Amino acid sequence: MSPYNDKIVDHFMHPRNVGEIPDADGMGTVGHPSCGDIVRFYLKVEQQGGRRVISQIRFKTFGCTTAIATSSVATEMVQGKTIEEALQLKNEEVAEALGGLPTIKMHCSVLAEDALRAAIGDYLKKVGDDHLLEEVKSQSRKHEEKELLTRIKSGGK
Ligand code: FES
Repeated sequence: MSPYNDKIVDHFMHPRNVGEIPDADGMGTVGHPSCGDIVRFYLKVEQQGGRRVISQIRFKTFGCTTAIATSSVATEMVQGKTIEEALQLKNEEVAEALGGLPTIKMHCSVLAEDALRAAIGDYLKKVGDDHLLEEVKSQSRKHEEKELLTRIKSGGK
């Protein structure tokens, strides 16, 4: 029996928002140290009534079924959201949006969250929003520590 439900298979077979944005306002790439999978997100950000909204988002993922499916659904979840709202996205919510992931595949959803945060961080750096950039960096550090602990507990996987 396949460990993947219909939603995961759908996002893997028909990934949404695949591709690049050549003149992206923000781009972020992350990789997983154990499996070697790589996820890259591209963003366009528009000012809408004083809010910074993600008007376009694309991804390229070199990775497993779940890495592609989580990247795909994450782009749908943040398209049209403000930068601040998008930064709240957690990998558990991405996994939930796909109807749940096998435990061994939870780290794939972490890549989507991290790539999004990296792309937003890149955007903030470009526009000189040092205040929010510092928050993003601190969020990343906490997340890395949490992931490291999880990997140690699971024997390095
Ligand atoms: S197996 Fe590593 S991202 Fe999926």
